[in-house]
Amino acid sequence: MPAPVRSNRLTCCCGLFALVLTAVFSLSQVRADDEGVTPPPGDMDRWMALKLTSSQRIFEGLTKGDFEQMERAARRMNVMNLLEQWSRDNAVRDQSDYQGQLNAFDFATKELVRHAGDHDMDGALKAYVAMSESCVRCHQVIRDVKKP
Ligand code: HEC
Repeated sequence: MPAPVRSNRLTCCCGLFALVLTAVFSLSQVRADDEGVTPPPGDMDRWMALKLTSSQRIFEGLTKGDFEQMERAARRMNVMNLLEQWSRDNAVRDQSDYQGQLNAFDFATKELVRHAGDHDMDGALKAYVAMSESCVRCHQVIRDVKKP
């Protein structure tokens, strides 16, 4: 039956298109939120510096009880994580530990968005701690890979 196959393919394309739109939209918000300028795509140091400020924003949101701030910053983190995995060189990307931390980070930022949406402080705090742990663990993996 050719019709359903075709519509599946269409759904898939739409999904991909929506993903790209979401990424572009979220990143354009980075500029509005963070006073700074959105870095060029290849500038990994500045992207990572943005990760650092975003995690501070989440922390700030937690201390102030500002769930909207948490949710915005967590969504942005999630998009940056997507960019992160596309831009990485193979030596790192092929490591299962690295993949594990990518997934942990992805899960933690999604949990943050969910709990912030529910105004659940305990859940959001737990997700923030899990996210911070994956920051540190992933960087440990990277340092190990780079060792001669
Ligand atoms: C899944 C892996 C991964 C996660 C999770 C991750 N990073 Fe990174 N990060 C990297 C990689 C890879 C680099 C580049 C390191 C290099 O090339 O030496 C990097 C670099 C950085 C840098 C630039 C300084 C440096 O160490 O070279 C900062 C700052 C940074 N990350 C912050 C964060 C913060 C904050 C978080 C969590 C909110 C985070 N990262 C989560 C993979 C990750």
